[in-house]
Amino acid sequence: MVKVELLKELDNGIRFYSMENESLKIVVVNMGCRIMEIHTPDASGNKSDVILGLKNIEDYADDPAYFGAIIGRVANRIGDARFTLNGKTYELYANNGKNHLHGGKEGFDKKIFDVTPLENGLRFHYFSKDGEEGYPGNLNLYVTYTLNENAFSIHYEADTDADTVVNFTNHLYFNLSNTLDKVNDHYLQINSDYIGCVDDTCLATGELLPVKDTPFDFNKRKRIGQDLEADHIQLKNAFGYDHSFVLNGTENQLTLEEPVSGRRLIISTTAPVVQVYTGNFLKDGCIGKAGRVYENREGVALETQLMPNAINTEENPSTILRKGDKFESNTKYVFEIM
Ligand code: GLA
Repeated sequence: MVKVELLKELDNGIRFYSMENESLKIVVVNMGCRIMEIHTPDASGNKSDVILGLKNIEDYADDPAYFGAIIGRVANRIGDARFTLNGKTYELYANNGKNHLHGGKEGFDKKIFDVTPLENGLRFHYFSKDGEEGYPGNLNLYVTYTLNENAFSIHYEADTDADTVVNFTNHLYFNLSNTLDKVNDHYLQINSDYIGCVDDTCLATGELLPVKDTPFDFNKRKRIGQDLEADHIQLKNAFGYDHSFVLNGTENQLTLEEPVSGRRLIISTTAPVVQVYTGNFLKDGCIGKAGRVYENREGVALETQLMPNAINTEENPSTILRKGDKFESNTKYVFEIM
């Protein structure tokens, strides 16, 4: 049984909901479909919030960290804030140096979505008009959040009336500890043999690096901090991990564990890639739930998506959504005890 409840509604259409069952409690706001809280039990059965977020809803209007938000139209960076599709070049807003990041000036993380409560969750819809943030095509995005026992799922569905570019993700930052220490002592396992390389603006270059014998090999469970400061050009370029891991397999591709609390998160996704970001720029953010600005590395974002900057680097870009086609993707987060 899932209890779905409207907690609060503001005059400007912002609505807060909770979704709760015996295992999980999740608080969501329809601005950017932001997930504001996820409460899960530790090994002693005590529930606490395992994601980072901001203290005040007003702060989300200017949140450089994209806490818990749906990202669109295109997650991560688009090089030189421009791309060419069907022979036409589209200019985008450069909000990250010379690059376009996470949808531009006002990405989906700041948009108010329509909400339909479901028996086991919430369904959101956003209509993005042709030309919004420079992108072609009228786009409908449907995001569905559901709970099923100890699993939380995100389902993405989109359609367009003209060829366009999409790459959706959720920018949840996890910290499974009860003490909110840096995530260096969390353990991560990723079924991945390659990462996408980035340049010194954190832009994906299209080049793949085999992870074998590098700090990027997480095929065997590894402490996040183990190689985080290693002398590797890719870690230097991004000030830590901020890379796309190309996923192997279709289930349980990622596991995050925090041995002291005993919490374990297992992620299964239909997305081909996960962007692992160790909160390298968190200290430039707003006041977090802890009542202060987070320090770098106090959370790890695990963003399931398509390859960043694919539109500029891939021969047949995975991020093109054709007129009449339907985009679909699913990510499941299972919370358990180690
Ligand atoms: C993504 C990017 C990071 C950073 C964060 C938001 O994870 O890859 O470089 O921009 O979003 O702060």
